[in-house]
Amino acid sequence: MIGAPLSRVEGPLKVSGRATYGYEDWSFGPTLYGFVVEATIARGRITSIDTSVAERAPGVRRVLTHRDAPPQGEPDPSASSYARAMPVLKDTEIRAFAQPVALVVARTFEDARAAARLVRITYEITPGEYELDEPGAPEIEQKSVNAGYSADSSIGDLDGALASAPVVLDRVYTTPYAFSLPMETHACIAAWDGDTVIAHCSTQIVADARQRIASTLRLDPEKVRVLSRYVGGGFGSKLGVSVETILAVMAARIVGEPVKVTLTRQQMFHLTGHRPASRQRVRLGASRDGRLHAFGHDAVQKQTRGSDYVEQTATAGRSLYAAPNRRTTHRSIALDLPVAGDVRAPGEAPGLFAIESAMDELAYTLDVDPIALRIANEPTIHPELNIPYSDRRMVECMREGARRFDWNRRARIPASTRDGRWLVGLGMAAAIRPHYQSESHVRVRVEPDGTVRVQCDMTDIGTGTYTVLAQTASEALGVPVDRVRVELGDSALPRTAGSGGSWGATNSCTALLRACRTLREKLGAPSGDVRAHVGASAVDAIGSVPEQTEEPSFSKSSIASYGAHFAEIGVDVDTGEVRLRRMLGVFDVGRVFNAKTARSQLIGGMIWGVSMALHEEGLVDPRVGAFVNRDFAQYLVPVHADIPAVDAIILDGFDGAANELGAKGVGEVGNCGASAAIANAVYSATGVRVRDLPITIEKLLPHLPARS
Ligand code: MOS
Repeated sequence: MIGAPLSRVEGPLKVSGRATYGYEDWSFGPTLYGFVVEATIARGRITSIDTSVAERAPGVRRVLTHRDAPPQGEPDPSASSYARAMPVLKDTEIRAFAQPVALVVARTFEDARAAARLVRITYEITPGEYELDEPGAPEIEQKSVNAGYSADSSIGDLDGALASAPVVLDRVYTTPYAFSLPMETHACIAAWDGDTVIAHCSTQIVADARQRIASTLRLDPEKVRVLSRYVGGGFGSKLGVSVETILAVMAARIVGEPVKVTLTRQQMFHLTGHRPASRQRVRLGASRDGRLHAFGHDAVQKQTRGSDYVEQTATAGRSLYAAPNRRTTHRSIALDLPVAGDVRAPGEAPGLFAIESAMDELAYTLDVDPIALRIANEPTIHPELNIPYSDRRMVECMREGARRFDWNRRARIPASTRDGRWLVGLGMAAAIRPHYQSESHVRVRVEPDGTVRVQCDMTDIGTGTYTVLAQTASEALGVPVDRVRVELGDSALPRTAGSGGSWGATNSCTALLRACRTLREKLGAPSGDVRAHVGASAVDAIGSVPEQTEEPSFSKSSIASYGAHFAEIGVDVDTGEVRLRRMLGVFDVGRVFNAKTARSQLIGGMIWGVSMALHEEGLVDPRVGAFVNRDFAQYLVPVHADIPAVDAIILDGFDGAANELGAKGVGEVGNCGASAAIANAVYSATGVRVRDLPITIEKLLPHLPARS
């Protein structure tokens, strides 16, 4: 049953509208609606705020401002960044564009939204800095970057090796601001009952949502119950809850009725985090046969003033290729933009665009096949940590992909293949993403009627958690999958690390497997269908996985998921229009829990790579410090017609160092390196190397070969 391509067990609930998302939980009864009023400046302070007109508008119950907000906790830098306090409506200071300055609470969403325009605010503006390339902006040293990585790493003598290498490549690549933008907007319904509150929100990590609510509003966490049973995507932006949740809980207490708040799509661009723009220098020193002597990767990124979030952009290369001399660094430039945060494959996605573009450039410089160049530099042990890889089948991914994709049909000379008016090219790139484990607990229970219940606060953010947990319990307990009921997304259930970092499925399925083993011991049922051993009362058991720091295999070996992307691109020789023609990814992720949902995750990541390469670009208006293109009309993502044949193949595998199920993370590796495969295919098609994403017509058109 584990691994079977089972359709999502909750699918019928979702397509029939019976899966209840945070904003539409009618069990709370009628609720009031809150609408966030955003600051229209990026830095300064409120000098006056007049809510009297808005308060008299139809349907309005209350307009909350900093004058109404209760005292709130301050963010504790030592707490998980998703659980820290997030004070809202705290004072009159404005720290970023769109910071909430009021919440209009009204009978309907429309009433609240209409009245939000009637709140009169005047500001005193302070100048701020909004451009990454501000001349003379000081680069800030980092001690560590996101996910606890050291900011810098250094082995051997990078500068010396570059000075003596027969071939040196030294290039700068840039990536723009990008956003998670899950389909379901961030939302929360909150209702108080005495001194306890229930918040049905949309979050990836229930326990951290509860902690954030409690520490912000100075509540006992025991008095906060968080529900997040169905989530319409998160991609990092819902690792922690945002202002909508804090405001819903705050407003519900003040008005004494249930309140729901959602952000609009436009508000999400400023209030739910973004991937910081980056400027990356990659330096490669090689011998003529393609052996790397030197590998250098320096990332400079935007950092929001007052926030410690710095993406781990230069960490992906630390374990990717062998080279005796190597250095990676992270520096940042403080800007007064909204707070940044995780966006799917934080670090690896922009970092691998740079590294895997540079490797392609080196392959052309040396006139060697890009796959041969990578195989020549395949490490046998982790080149910086000096520990073995648990299981690394990168070369197999590349070879299998090359075979299936007809890579040997690739023309060595760029811009030499035509199909009518289309210039056609093939490109590839490697993918790598570390595997993580975090403390998680899962309960399993067999009822006298033979129903098996799996219970934990894990979330299903569209990834298939309900399904893979049902499959794991079915196999471990010998019961049909349709007798398993999976209950998730409730802080009253055992605590997990939630969905994030591609760890959710492996954490919770491994903990569940252990719970099932304990249950079998309790029942005295070493094999077969456990239902034969259940008497008149239910029996349950808890299984756990600890933090990875307590698992020796995580320090003794380097555990990661791997892959190789292949893309065929056509570029219209007259217009510069770029079209994806086909794309294939081959992945090594250990054992999969569900062939259908895993493939779906991988394809989603690859499509995001296409989007990153060709479409997405958040643009800052430096006059006001705001993202200007803040909707799906102007912030481009692919539509169906942009995505033709895309396929993902998963190698049969089992990585026992990861866990006893042999499974590793799937959710993000599909988005790692995919953008570079597209950029490399564009080069193969046109001979034009675009180092600044996204690859748009205006970057190609002046350089395209003449139409013959
Ligand atoms: Mo992911 S960006 O860790 O949700």
